[in-house]
Amino acid sequence: MEKLPKASHPDLLVGVNTIDDAGVFRVSDDLALVQTVDFFTPIVDDPYTYGAIAAANALSDIYAMGGEPLTALNIVCYPKGIVSEEMLGEILRGGFDKAAEAGCLIVGGHSVEDKEMKYGLAVTGKIHPKKILTNANVQPGDALVLTKPLGTGIVTTAFKLGTISDELYRRVTDSMLALNNTAAKLAVEFGAHACTDITGFGLLGHAWGMARESNVGFIFDANQIPIFAGAEELADQGFLTKNDRSNREYLKGYVHIDNSFSENLVRVLYDPQTSGGLLISVSSEAVEDLETELKKQGVEDARIIGRVTKEHPQQITVVQA
Ligand code: CO
Ligand code: CO
Ligand code: CO
Repeated sequence: MEKLPKASHPDLLVGVNTIDDAGVFRVSDDLALVQTVDFFTPIVDDPYTYGAIAAANALSDIYAMGGEPLTALNIVCYPKGIVSEEMLGEILRGGFDKAAEAGCLIVGGHSVEDKEMKYGLAVTGKIHPKKILTNANVQPGDALVLTKPLGTGIVTTAFKLGTISDELYRRVTDSMLALNNTAAKLAVEFGAHACTDITGFGLLGHAWGMARESNVGFIFDANQIPIFAGAEELADQGFLTKNDRSNREYLKGYVHIDNSFSENLVRVLYDPQTSGGLLISVSSEAVEDLETELKKQGVEDARIIGRVTKEHPQQITVVQA
């Protein structure tokens, strides 16, 4: 993408110039389109659940901008003969049901034969052009809220290569299946300044995207960061994704974590997430009410995990407060 000429147009409100979640194009004074696409290889064994998680994950970038999903197209790559038509049907049914839960219509799609199964959605949503939650508007003094626990990369790797308890499997699957719609709705309601969803670059990577675009510093309190119970132990057993290393390289020089922290905690902070939660930047006056309301409306794992400073712009510091 970096080598391509940058798209530029008076109505292109969010394009590829920023590290944002989705593109936004204004069609009239009070309406803009939000567009995004995401798809990936199976993350769980059950085809229906895989399809639903892939859809929740793809829809998430619309929510991260403060938008509302309208329509989606299926993207299907499948190995003929290995993935049966029945399984394929279950994957699509999972995606269809999750999109329906989001009030989003699947209006078509495209499939190709491939060596490895991949599924996801290209989603179109709507948003008011003046109410876009980009990464670029974090304010010094803001508080930071994370709405889902961390560790899906580590836990799903352990599920593929080792064994995990049924309880942990359920807990992590339910979290990946959960839409970020309520969190996004409340973020907008409580006047959030900025928002992103936590996916492949992990908490630290996506946080840094916001800190960079907004030219502010982030301070996270390690004690407040929600983590799936058992994820640190699995990290200790070596169940890490490839992205653990690439995320560290990508963030070299921007992240400050004291040697006193356990390496397993650090691994969780760099762990890529699938269908992760939202990271919301909101005024410190509004943050406690936001956290209370999130919990009341079913986003039970939401926590205030940090704050924003004018000092140390574009740097992430993890402390133990
Ligand atoms: Co995103
Ligand atoms: Co995405
Ligand atoms: Co955003």
